[in-house]
Formats: sequence, C-alpha cells, structure tokens
Amino acid sequence: MIVNRPARLRANVHVPGDKSISHRSLIFNAVADGRATVEQLLDSEDVRSTAACLSALGVEIEWPEGSPVAHVTGKGLHGLYESEDVLDCGNSGTTMRLLTGLLSAHPLLSVLTGDTSLRSRPMARVISPMRKMGAHVHARTGDTLAPIVIKGGGLSGIDYTSPVASAQVKSAILLAGLYAEGTTTVTEPERSRDHTERMLQAMGAGLTVDGRAVRIVPATRLSPISLRVPGDISSAAPWLVLGACHPDAEVVIHGVNTNPTRTGLLDILHAMGAEIELLEQRTTGGEPVADLVVRTSRLDAATVGGALVPRAIDELPLVAILGCFAEGDTVVKDAAELRTKESDRVEAVVRTLGRMGARITPRDDGFVVHGPASLHAARVDAGGDHRIGMLAAVAGCLAQGDTRVGNDAVAVSYPEFWRHLREAAQG
Ligand code: S3P
Repeated sequence: MIVNRPARLRANVHVPGDKSISHRSLIFNAVADGRATVEQLLDSEDVRSTAACLSALGVEIEWPEGSPVAHVTGKGLHGLYESEDVLDCGNSGTTMRLLTGLLSAHPLLSVLTGDTSLRSRPMARVISPMRKMGAHVHARTGDTLAPIVIKGGGLSGIDYTSPVASAQVKSAILLAGLYAEGTTTVTEPERSRDHTERMLQAMGAGLTVDGRAVRIVPATRLSPISLRVPGDISSAAPWLVLGACHPDAEVVIHGVNTNPTRTGLLDILHAMGAEIELLEQRTTGGEPVADLVVRTSRLDAATVGGALVPRAIDELPLVAILGCFAEGDTVVKDAAELRTKESDRVEAVVRTLGRMGARITPRDDGFVVHGPASLHAARVDAGGDHRIGMLAAVAGCLAQGDTRVGNDAVAVSYPEFWRHLREAAQG
C-alpha cells in the first residue's frame, strides 16, 4: 500500500467491533445453555479463527461472510465434541490461550496450532497454570510453544499469582475455573482488560473482583448473552494519533469502547496535551462507549510505564509516533510484553519508524523517542503484524513523500482500515 500526507484530514469513522469482546462473545456463548445473537461482531481473520475452532468443536455458529451479525447456539458447559482435526488459531493469541483454558476443562483430546508468528509466542504462561489445575497439557520446546496438545478434565481450583498482566492468561484460568472443583483465584501484577469478568458475570457465573484478584466458583450453567459489540479502541487508536499529529485534522470516531481497563492511550494523549473530547457517553453490551473527537494538537513528551502499560498494551507502538511530534524524550518502559506480541514490537517500531527518520532507541522493556523529528517516506515491511501495518500507515500519512507499506496484515483486526484511510484523506 502507498500512503502520503493529505493536506487536510476531516473524517467521521465507525471503527469495527472490539476484537477482545468479539472473541469472548463467541467462546462464552459456545458453552452457554441456548442461543445468542451477537451484533457488530468483528469480521476479521482473528475472530474467524475463533469461530472456525468452535465449529470444529461442534458449536453451531451462523455467521455469513461479511455479516456483522452472528447467531451462536451454545452446547452447554459439557457439550463440546472432540474435534476431528487440529484446531488452527491462525494469528490469534486470544483464540489459542482462551481455548487452552476452556479445553483443559474438557475430557477431550485437542491440538491447537497457529501460523508462524503464533507458534513462536510464549504459551507456558497458560500451560503451567492448566497443569497445576490438573490438565494434561504438552507443547513443543519444553512445553513452551504451540502446537499445544491437551487432554483435559478433572480440574481442581488454584490460587494463582500470574507473573504477567495478561487478560489472555487471566481468562484462560477463569474459564478453567468455571469447571474446577473449589474456588479458583487469579491475581495479576497490574489489572488487565476485564471483558471476561464483565461478560461471565452477566451470564450468571459466580465471579468476584477484589483489586488485582479475580475469584470464580464452578458453574452449573451459563445463560446465553446477546449483545452489540462496541467499537474497538485499539482500532480507534490509529485515528487518535493521526488526528493529534496531523497539521490540519479533525476526526470523529463513533461508538468506541471506553472501558477504563482499555483507555490508557486516552490518558497518554491527555498527558501529552492532545485535544480529545469524549461525547455521548453511554453503555453498549455491558461496556461504556463514547464518540471521540480529536483535533490537531501541540504535544509534549511523556513517560509511560507501570499500571498504564496493560491499559494501552496494543496502542504502545503508536505512542512512538506521538513521541516524534512531541517536544522532548518520550519513554515507554515496563513494557517487555511488547516483545511477545504478533511480532517483537519493540524491534518492529524501532525498525519501521527509524527508516522514516525517527530518532528512537530500543530498551529491553520499551523504547525512547527523542522528539521532535520530522518523518520522511520510506519503504517499510510490517512483517505480518497488523498493529505495525497500521503504525506504518499512520506514519506515512504524517511524512513527506510516498511511503510503501508491505505485509500489513490489517485484515487480522481491521479489514476496512485502508478504505477508511482513503476516505478520510479525501474528506
Ligand atoms: C487480549 C489481551 C492482550 C492484547 C491482545 C488481546 C485479549 O494480550 O494484547 O491483543 O483479548 O485478552 P495479553 O492479555 O496477553 O496482554
């Protein structure tokens, strides 16, 4: 794709449904008692991977190609079938980790695999607690890498302190805890996104939250939950950053999920002095939602670390662009998790923006951007990581000249991204 800087940026964007909530709406409804309708379900490669795995486990999912509405007929907590084949999670960590939790509770043989990226991402973080709960789980390279082989069932509750703030790990353990004997508790170093807690509670699970600890007791049934998935703040993020950094911009993004466990980027933008407004605050699918307005802003550098990191984890690469337009050094720290995503995002951010003229230094746990620096066009390869594809596109829209972005993979989470960007540049 070729991108360059539009003279003026005026856009009204409707971002697609939230990826995390979309996965959960399919997985949790798959084991509920009855039928649910999910509207504005994200139709992207990752969510299609989840739907395909659940279908292979016997779940009836009616979701025509290109349709924002899906009907899921749950099989009840104990009704999944053994899949005849390996379950392909594609590029999706959420699919693999949440299904590892769910299938560890089932007395079935399951094999989970994925693409080259997913097969290189850390899986011991879910395998180890599942084994502690009593599941038989094995994986490649000393039980650390997919494919993962699971023979589940007969679980006991555990009190688990997770070494990482990860909603995928937390959710895997909570799903297994729904089936385990006794209480299961998972405590995180910092709070990660809480969509699982909200949705399982709404479905009738016995789940309580106490600070950084979440406790669940076994369930006898889950009620199906029909919902309209709110817009994904991680897909709004490229627009927020583009709007703040572009010299003549006003962008309105409609219906964005503003769950406080996800709004780290809004806090970062405010701290850096960006002009952002939240309008029409309301609730959709048990989650807070607002329309966001962003305008051309003068930015100051900021330091991002600690509890802010999990609240902005997928948006941190974009903070590097903000750093290029801010006065001073912008630091992202405590974010070693960035190296375990669809690609090593510290390396990818430094490589991509470095080629475009950013002055950026990697750290073990993040990066430092020395601002301001003007960006110039380059030929960049996003390495098949959707967040890096969108980062490169935003940088290209702020740079002098034609930037060529290869291997962008935006269809993983935001298939309409390029069309929306073209419309905004014309608009
Ligand atoms: C997700 C949680 C995050 C995030 C990922 C989606 C989820 O991963 O990076 O894109 O849906 O639970 P971790 O929980 O492993 O940090």
